Amino acid sequence: MRDIFEVRDFDGLGRIGELEVPRAGVTVETPALLPVINPHIRTIEPATLESEFGADVLITNGYVLYKSDEYRERALEEGLHDLLDFSGAIMTDSGSFQLSEYGEISVTNEEILRFQHEVGSDIGTPVDIPTPPDAGRERAESELATTQERLAAAEDVDVGEMLVNAPVQGSTYPDLREAAAEHAYGTSLDVFPVGAVVPLMNGYRYAEMVEVVLAAKRGLGADAPVHLFGAGHPMMFALAVAAGCDLFDSAAYALYARDDRYLTVSGTDHLDDLDYLPCGCPVCASHTAAELRALEERPREERLAEHNLHVSYRELRTVRQALREGNLLELVERRARGHPAMVDGYEALLDGADQLEAADPVSKGTFFHLSSASARRPEVRRHHERLARLSVEGDDVLLSEGDDNDRFDETWRLRPPFGPFPAALSDSYPLTAETPERLDRDAYEAAAAGVRRLIEANPNVAFTVAHWEWPDAALSALPDGVGTLELGPDSEPPSDADG
Ligand code: GUN
Ligand code: ZN
Repeated sequence: MRDIFEVRDFDGLGRIGELEVPRAGVTVETPALLPVINPHIRTIEPATLESEFGADVLITNGYVLYKSDEYRERALEEGLHDLLDFSGAIMTDSGSFQLSEYGEISVTNEEILRFQHEVGSDIGTPVDIPTPPDAGRERAESELATTQERLAAAEDVDVGEMLVNAPVQGSTYPDLREAAAEHAYGTSLDVFPVGAVVPLMNGYRYAEMVEVVLAAKRGLGADAPVHLFGAGHPMMFALAVAAGCDLFDSAAYALYARDDRYLTVSGTDHLDDLDYLPCGCPVCASHTAAELRALEERPREERLAEHNLHVSYRELRTVRQALREGNLLELVERRARGHPAMVDGYEALLDGADQLEAADPVSKGTFFHLSSASARRPEVRRHHERLARLSVEGDDVLLSEGDDNDRFDETWRLRPPFGPFPAALSDSYPLTAETPERLDRDAYEAAAAGVRRLIEANPNVAFTVAHWEWPDAALSALPDGVGTLELGPDSEPPSDADG
């Protein structure tokens, strides 16, 4: 791998980075969206992508050009950048997607790599085998072995400054994905797309998508730029970025427009069902839903494609800003509420909290507890791990949601969902969290788990938990032998006089 990717900011596994594309002479800020340009259709002109949308990178299909009587020679003579009229970076795909759709393609790995280089592609792709989800284990293994041979062969093709993708396959087997990623990272190739996830996304299988991405990330170094092949719906950008993806390609903006479908950050609407356009992009600001419906087919498709792209770019900017502010997980959580399948995706991400925690910065903005799922965030896990290492000073210690009490040797703060912490940490992330007054049960149970960690680390200390009306499930999750005091409007705080 060349030294082409620099990470600027982290949040969970998400990052803002800079991908240097030497052949194009441009540096692409990530997370980035690569709109798919079908050379035969060009729903939106590449020059328009550049001038109106600020696109600095796109993707087109090298195999479609290679097979095209109309474009093959022109691409070779003029080069892709002139042919498409685009001065940013151009990634090309190899025909692997056609291979997965039609079962065969008529070009070899080496030929299509050389062709991509000859037409001036900035980032090329070998012919990987996109093994679909749920394939049998043997098939997944043998197709992965073929993909790995192709990556090794790609290392020997002279492609000059062109970067080369090293796709990670392995179907829905996390161990194969991890091994595939480790192998790919060990080659001299440059960018690491997670492949064959389109069927997962089309099937709204976001939890498995997250599992596949997390498995691939375990096999890759932190300096590996990761592309999610074929992922272009803005509803999943925040989730996929939080799982560690840096690049997306969207054919969705154009394909959906062809069927009168209107993308939003929480799903897809059909133009026929819209009485109002819930968006402020130039298209939606200058048309009513009825006006869009009344357009001829081609201009209607173009306007919808423009809207779809505006939403997609806006969502990526929203994701980048959340990353900068350190509240990407809050954004993921808000987006997850838009669709039940996204809730599953977010839960799958939290199942990987260990993996997220290892990458997550220690200090960010303010932790917002937004739902019971927040109790499973990596920050809560990190705090609990810290509790197992913290020792307390006194023999008789109060863990209190309320005030200090001098009957005890020492008082620690107690706060759902984190649990106990020394007062000196009150002003540090994430313990400055904003939590709702009406907390969910999971938050109390997470706090009880934190109490348990501290008590286990300090077996010779007597602990008392002073709480405001914790639910029974949380109280019964406290270790045996811990004293409890219920605080409340009617109860006197315990003091020396009581003892
Ligand atoms: N486009 C969508 N999925 C894939 C994939 O797995 N491999 C390649 N090369 N292109 C894709
Ligand atoms: Zn719009």
